[in-house]
Amino acid sequence: MSRVLWHNAQLATLDGDAPWGWIANGALLTEGDRILWVGEAAQLSPELAAGTLRRHDLRGAVVTPGLIDCHTHLVYGGQRAHEFELRLQGASYEEIARAGGGIRSTVAATREASEDELFKQAAKRAQALMGEGVCTLEVKSGYGLSLIDEAKQLRVARRLGKELALTVRSSYLGAHALPPEFAGRQDDYVQALCDWMPELQGLGLVDAVDAFCEGIGFTPAQTRRVFETAKRLGLSVKLHAEQLSDQGGTQLAAEFSALSCDHLEYLSAEGIGAMARSGTVAVLLPGAYYFLRETKLPPVQALREAGVPMAIATDHNPGTSPVLSPLLMLNMACTLFRLTPEEALRGMTMHAARALGLADRGRLAAGLRADFCVWDVAHPRELAYYFGRNPLLQRVCGGKSSGN
Ligand code: NIG
Ligand code: FE
Repeated sequence: MSRVLWHNAQLATLDGDAPWGWIANGALLTEGDRILWVGEAAQLSPELAAGTLRRHDLRGAVVTPGLIDCHTHLVYGGQRAHEFELRLQGASYEEIARAGGGIRSTVAATREASEDELFKQAAKRAQALMGEGVCTLEVKSGYGLSLIDEAKQLRVARRLGKELALTVRSSYLGAHALPPEFAGRQDDYVQALCDWMPELQGLGLVDAVDAFCEGIGFTPAQTRRVFETAKRLGLSVKLHAEQLSDQGGTQLAAEFSALSCDHLEYLSAEGIGAMARSGTVAVLLPGAYYFLRETKLPPVQALREAGVPMAIATDHNPGTSPVLSPLLMLNMACTLFRLTPEEALRGMTMHAARALGLADRGRLAAGLRADFCVWDVAHPRELAYYFGRNPLLQRVCGGKSSGN
């Protein structure tokens, strides 16, 4: 396998204890899809460099780990700009959902769309995220809500990973909303979505299981049944928790050693303690907070003090977060949630990797995947500082480069 040297770089490795894992005169040696060596260029041994086929002079640019968007609902039919207008006329997200709009209107459009059409639309969105440095993307189902339509959405997610230069992880979110054919029979629907789980897993379509534990979603007791089924099948769980109210979903998720709890604006002190004990990542979603004009902030300082790792993601979806800019999310994590620029970047790299259960990425270190971004900035803090400017020069995914 040929070795490639990327030199004359400033590296934000996010590895080790130094701020940003900073290496001023750095170099990276890759072999195939892995990082073979990373460090001060002067320390690269000639033996290791021997056999290097290509050299890329990065001209002093900043290199970070490839971005990881660990929470999206990228595959869906239609869009919901009309509901945006309704909200501007005074309707709330919950009122629209209870009136049969919201998630259920996207379910109707997703069921109607062909698999190819869903793929075409989702690929465009994925390319927008990749254009700002995303190398790993999580995609949830939850707009199909029948075995056939959930499978269709999840197959599209898998196809994105095959046809585009990025890694895609899929989460089964059957417990997202109640489909119309189960109206008034919510427990029956929970049973059905649990029954579909082994089949979807058997088709190789499920990496983790998610649920929406909320007044307009599923109760903690119903969420528990979903998680018990997942655990029996050996699948990891995550949860949309405490987004619109405190349901105690976080404590439940922690009981099942959830990879992550996401949203968390209404998270309680008990929930924070439970997450700290179970090692669950807090995924914060500033796009949904902003777009819903939420005013209750997630308890960032308390999470920080408890040592709970915080990830940042786009939550791209047509209802609450139609954003396709991970860099804007870094900025909003700082301006709205008061994370530091370094916390924000760690949130979209190393902690996002952990929220997906991926140990092979999120930092620049020997042995990890060669997923990294080359940026036209003088310091990585600028990634969170600008908004509406994309300084990506090059995205390298699995050792393969695509320029911008
Ligand atoms: O993450 N909270 C539930 N799910 C999405 C919203 C989905 C939708 O409105 O279509 C979210 O905010
Ligand atoms: Fe979500």
